[in-house]
Amino acid sequence: MSEKVYPVSRATKSMALIDKDKYEKWYEESVEDPDKFWGKHGKRIDWFKPYTKVKNTSFKGKVSIKWFEDGLTNVSYNCIDRHLKTHGERTALIWEGDNPYIDKKITYNQLYDQVCRLANVLKKHGVKKGDRVTIYMPMIPEAAYAMLACARIGAVHSVVFGGFSPEALAGRIVDCQSCFVITCDEGVRGGKPVPLKENTDKAIHIAARQYATVKNVLVVRRTGGKIEWAPGRDLWYHQEIASVKGHCEPVKMKAEDPLFILYTSGSTGKPKGVLHTTGGYLVYAAMTHEYVFDYHDGDVYWCTADVGWVTGHSYIVYGPLANCATSLMFEGVPNFPDQGRFWEVIDKHNVNIFYTAPTAIRSLMGAGDEYVKRSSRSSLRLLGTVGEPINPEAWEWYYRVVGDSRCPVIDTWWQTETGGHMITPLPGATALKPGSATVPFFGIKPQLVDNEGNVLEGPADGNLCIADSWPGQMRTVYGDHERFIQTYFSTYKGKYFTGDGCRRDEDGYYWITGRVDDVLNVSGHRLGTAEVESALVSHDYVSEAAVVGYPHNVKGQGIYCYVTLMSGHEGDDALRQELIKHVRSEIGPIATPDKIQFAPGLPKTRSGKIMRRILRKIAEDDFGALGDISTLADPGVVDDLIENRQNKA
Ligand code: WTA
Repeated sequence: MSEKVYPVSRATKSMALIDKDKYEKWYEESVEDPDKFWGKHGKRIDWFKPYTKVKNTSFKGKVSIKWFEDGLTNVSYNCIDRHLKTHGERTALIWEGDNPYIDKKITYNQLYDQVCRLANVLKKHGVKKGDRVTIYMPMIPEAAYAMLACARIGAVHSVVFGGFSPEALAGRIVDCQSCFVITCDEGVRGGKPVPLKENTDKAIHIAARQYATVKNVLVVRRTGGKIEWAPGRDLWYHQEIASVKGHCEPVKMKAEDPLFILYTSGSTGKPKGVLHTTGGYLVYAAMTHEYVFDYHDGDVYWCTADVGWVTGHSYIVYGPLANCATSLMFEGVPNFPDQGRFWEVIDKHNVNIFYTAPTAIRSLMGAGDEYVKRSSRSSLRLLGTVGEPINPEAWEWYYRVVGDSRCPVIDTWWQTETGGHMITPLPGATALKPGSATVPFFGIKPQLVDNEGNVLEGPADGNLCIADSWPGQMRTVYGDHERFIQTYFSTYKGKYFTGDGCRRDEDGYYWITGRVDDVLNVSGHRLGTAEVESALVSHDYVSEAAVVGYPHNVKGQGIYCYVTLMSGHEGDDALRQELIKHVRSEIGPIATPDKIQFAPGLPKTRSGKIMRRILRKIAEDDFGALGDISTLADPGVVDDLIENRQNKA
């Protein structure tokens, strides 16, 4: 833990929207009188019919969360139409291709035209308000058009990260019973094609076994690569949008009408469909985007996330566009053509605000400072990070080398479930401590509780809960409200439990220590150990598997798998490779196991429960501190596990 404190610089303070006094005043009001506070700030978006009710939420019993419930609005209208009168010619999106010689700019007027056309295409093919549309796209502007077109007509989008396998895509199509898929012939990353249409074909084939409702697949031509075509089902994007009008009335949506579903991993079972709704989500995404990044009119803002994750939803598309910002969208990867790409792009487009993940920072730090020094980065004013705890070394490097000790590093803690930033510095208000996400945003009441649920005061270490609702909060698990209650509100009754561990220091700063449940965070991507385990046991040779995380220099956490084979099979390197391939094809490359240990037995209690604590210790090569193993059914298995550990120092 770093003891250093970086006060707000004079330059940052002089231009900041929120200074310390204002933060304190607003924060107090926001938690003392949420109705008044959010009643005021809800007006930052346009309403067709203004709300009269603000907050109507309960974390008890059946758990019900409603914000601005009698208001009518439309997210697409707020992200586009309302800017046109004054800023129609402003650049909404800067698209930087994978190939460094390809880019383009899309103005708000052009965005309007494209989104309206696509909305009309959806309507023409029978997509109605409330229908689910799956978006499986690379980082091209059409991905944003697709999201906004759904929002325009009230269809609920489910964006699936382009790195997910056909199996994973199929599961997500089936779960929300999507009728329409928008994809692309092939994506391009690091110069290599990604077969998105082929994956979609496979996924629909798999999904058809359970639920065959995908009526159409709309295909954007990105590379012109060879693809299969299902006549009647498949539609070319460019042909379709050419034949419809460039105007489409936005549907008047209730504040609590669903906006999107985004699947995310939990500690058990299949990924769950996190449901976000219209009004509160947009207010919260837009407000955090403005204040956390101290966004000023005309700034060029770049978030390097993929639209397949919540960061891409809230901070590439919805937050920035609602604020009439210029948002950069990058198709490629940080190390192509080489490790200097991010810094080159910053110079090329004069980026002022840059937002990325610790895993990228660590990997670029490892490449050496020369790549950074090649660029000037003089346009940069602010640096942000998200996705996992950032270690102080990486923080310092980001601050010193990338930001030339001039730009505050804004470490934003939040989750798919929270819709937007929760614990984060505000540039003009918060002194920084490397490694700490610092203090709560307006309206957020963090609480640390011990394992018995007692609320801890003052400096403490505990489980991070949030005591009351905020407008950006998820409303339910799609199709399974009971799971929503169970997952988030049953561990500590009446509180939202985040799944993270956290320490609060003497200054009231929060330090996220990582997940306390069985969720892994690999290169900033969330994965459930249960998902990887079920992928492993779906292989014919595997009888049992247990997966844990271990500390990894670049990825934050690596994936360590203990695998027990069916009798008659030998665990060798060839089988290791085969299992790795198998997991990749079941879930996707982000789930690639780092270590596989073949284990004749797993440490279980007499009631058959696997003791992960022991497996974690062995994976960390820290077996001196295994603790009490006497409750194991067969303590003997531990010796074999230690003997054959894969992370020997
Ligand atoms: C972790 C990403 C420490 C945390 C927006 C959380 C972080 C999970 C930070 C959510 C941060 C995210 N510091 N840990 N600044 N940001 N996390 O849903 O464990 O993909 O619970 O949302 O990432 O991941 P998700």
